[in-house]
Amino acid sequence: MKSTAVASANIALTKYWGKRDKKLMLPQNGSVSVTLEGLTTKTTVEFDPDYKEDVFILNGEEFKEGEEKQQVVDHLNMIREMAKSDHKAKVVSESNFPTAAGLASSASGFAALSVAGAKAAGLNLDKKELSILSRRGSGSASRSVDGGFVEWQKGEKEDGSDSYAITVAPSSHWPEFRIITTIVRKGPKKVKSRAGMSQTVKTCPYYKGWLETVNEDIENVKKAIKEKNFTLLGETAEYNCLKMHATMMTTKPPIIYWEGPTLEIMHAVMNWREEGLECYFTIDAGPQVKIICLEKDVPELEKRLKDLNGVKDIVICKPGEDAELIDDHLF
Ligand code: PMV
Repeated sequence: MKSTAVASANIALTKYWGKRDKKLMLPQNGSVSVTLEGLTTKTTVEFDPDYKEDVFILNGEEFKEGEEKQQVVDHLNMIREMAKSDHKAKVVSESNFPTAAGLASSASGFAALSVAGAKAAGLNLDKKELSILSRRGSGSASRSVDGGFVEWQKGEKEDGSDSYAITVAPSSHWPEFRIITTIVRKGPKKVKSRAGMSQTVKTCPYYKGWLETVNEDIENVKKAIKEKNFTLLGETAEYNCLKMHATMMTTKPPIIYWEGPTLEIMHAVMNWREEGLECYFTIDAGPQVKIICLEKDVPELEKRLKDLNGVKDIVICKPGEDAELIDDHLF
């Protein structure tokens, strides 16, 4: 059986940083994100008794071995276990992100693989189950099954059955909301989030402080989304991002994801805000800065960002839609 799905990337407004269970991908804390329209991964999965081994082709390149291939095989194994099947699969995946943009594709990638893979295996999973399956591939992928504004609930249970994402508000709730991603360096990040967060949980003396304050940030961001209170949302998201990076920087050895242009944009955003152009920044486990703003300010921000030396490229996104099955297969 062959199925194809499309899923969008997401950016966390309050971050997930740290696992309490590495195998089940259970987080130490909850998080809230917005799904990004236009940054999508499309994946076709086919299980077939005639296939001798799993095949994984990403953006036209076959991965015969290595970490990427292993993660896909592990994910297929989970799907096979659920479907009680031993058929091997062919997986073809394409991301439409600007070439080598340095944007994380694991969220849209594992969400698309889960939605297409489950269907191709004959499983009829609901959104909650698809979020849980996506979470097993990459934590942030649990948030890419849903569109709009999304909360990944930390959950309490040891088996992870209550750790999944739910909708806070659909994309239509706040259509003027925008995320501008600035690309400052192309190419892979130096420390993968998986390794970075594990190091933080183990060695950062301030991680306790992160966990103590993150729930308040989540409540404020959800309130801000529901009331469309842009100032509360921006201030909370920016501060939450800085707290996460403070824990990254104070691990042993330290992890500093920021580069020169990262800081240049952070300062610019703070200065523009003082001048009355309301915008905020957020940054994940890499050097790119995402700017949180409203549609009316996009032309002015675009002009100013293009004048900054370190900005190589920019991508403007509205809130995106749910992951979905489509008929247009990749093979
Ligand atoms: O689930 P991962 O490995 O994509 O980790 C995501 C970590 C951050 O992007 C830094 C935060 C987040 O919540 O997306």
